[in-house]
Amino acid sequence: MEIFTIFPQWLLTSTLIFIMFFMFLYTFKSNKSSISAPKLPPNPPKLPIIGNLHKLVGKPRHQVLWQLSKQYGPIMQFKMGSKSFIVISSPKMAKQIMKTQDHIFCSRPYSKSTERLTYNYLDIAFSPQSNHRREMRKILVSEFLGPKRASRINHVLGTEVDTMVRALALHPPNGAVNLRDLFLATVKAVVCKVAFGDNYRQQPINGPSWEVVVDEAQEMLGGSVGDFFPWVGRFIDRISGSSRKLDRCFNNLDAYIETVINDHKNQTGSEVSDVDDKDFVHSLLELSCKDATSGYQLTKEDIKSLIMDVLTGGVDTTVVTLEWTMSEIARNVRVMQKLQTEIRNRTKTKQKLDATDVAKMTYLKMVVKETLRLHPPAPLLIPHECISQCQVGGYDVYPGTSALINAWGIGRDPTVWGENAGEFYPERFEKFEVDFEMVPFGAGRRSCPAMNTAPATVEFLIANLVCWFDWEVPNGVKNEDLNMEDVGTLILRKKLPLCLVPRKFNWED
Ligand code: HEM
Repeated sequence: MEIFTIFPQWLLTSTLIFIMFFMFLYTFKSNKSSISAPKLPPNPPKLPIIGNLHKLVGKPRHQVLWQLSKQYGPIMQFKMGSKSFIVISSPKMAKQIMKTQDHIFCSRPYSKSTERLTYNYLDIAFSPQSNHRREMRKILVSEFLGPKRASRINHVLGTEVDTMVRALALHPPNGAVNLRDLFLATVKAVVCKVAFGDNYRQQPINGPSWEVVVDEAQEMLGGSVGDFFPWVGRFIDRISGSSRKLDRCFNNLDAYIETVINDHKNQTGSEVSDVDDKDFVHSLLELSCKDATSGYQLTKEDIKSLIMDVLTGGVDTTVVTLEWTMSEIARNVRVMQKLQTEIRNRTKTKQKLDATDVAKMTYLKMVVKETLRLHPPAPLLIPHECISQCQVGGYDVYPGTSALINAWGIGRDPTVWGENAGEFYPERFEKFEVDFEMVPFGAGRRSCPAMNTAPATVEFLIANLVCWFDWEVPNGVKNEDLNMEDVGTLILRKKLPLCLVPRKFNWED
């Protein structure tokens, strides 16, 4: 029987409208009472679609965000296209993100380039939090950064530094040395020999050498327009050639890594019978052969993504730290002389410096620490993405929001470091106990796994340069007037390469 035969249509319609009206009222009321308005961090005024991106165009991100934080506070909401960020600008807030709520801010944001260059998120640095990532991090620490590899690293570092010192001693008098190039060559040679057993540095594969390919990868890892505007951005990436560049970069890097792996696979057992002959890639290949019960079984792509992390994460950060350290030493003659006294007093009767000598040099350690305070190589670290709703500093933060931690700004803040915050004064560490007042390596689950070993490499190289040579700024420029401008987004380097004149130290004087 038709319903309209029982109830007239007008009655049915008005009853339905009545019910819908009450349902609407009920929903509205219950929403109002159960969902209180979120308390979001203060934010600079946004423009439609692009959000706050216009504030960053053509300007150094870390500096703009630091200036804005003075107005909006130590936690500030920032929108870049469709992506939400919080900008963290105080030790207290940094501690909230990387210690108290580390388990919530332990992921990384999605980007097309990181996805591609990490073999679909198999790596450590850019992948979201997962069991696989944790295992990969353990492998990097035990097979590359840990005590197992320490003696080989020290041996290779010693040999490469000897070569560097000998080359400098033969340098024409009064000629300036490009220290950036020198550091790059030395660090890349060390990484290549320890990781791959051979210096593949200059080997061109698919055309460019890996130095060129790694530089390109680093640039790509900084992200593209597509990351901020998912639909139209991808189109722009395609027509601007950014997608093609990413494909080319990935193919070159992959071909390079593939060659390294194949060379290792082709080596006979007798070539690598000695434990000391085994490099990082040998160890990874061994782990790929083991059955799953005796350890984490690696696939070929896992191995490639680990190599990729070492190449993109380990070289530039170290080179940049070396260049800033040497620049600060050259600019501050008082520091250079005090450092030379410490190092030369220990070296007097020796022909060579070894890692044990360097480990005892307390002023040298303070000099490197002071450099990392003023010049953290990754000024905003790598973004930490929030995985569940939480509160930071009393404000609501939602999943998918990424935290940018302004390590550069926090390290220079006079309210933390006192009035001489901008001065290079290593002695401050005689009294200052560091907690989250400087975070050049991040902290917590996503901290740099090389935070305990990387400074030792920097210290060793600097100790040798400062021990065997005196250094002058060329072209009649006063030491204190050395140009210290910086440039870069993901990695912040000195704008102009550091060029100094070495004078061989005469021990008889
Ligand atoms: C002075 C040298 C170095 C500096 C200043 C440095 C700095 C950093 C920073 C700031 C991060 C991000 C931390 C965060 O997001 O909270 C990081 C992560 C990382 N670094 Fe380093 N790094 C250095 C050397 C190295 C070396 C030598 C390696 C390896 C060979 C390395 C491998 C990594 C990896 C794999 C990650 C990712 C960690 C994760 O997400 O769990 N770094 N590093």
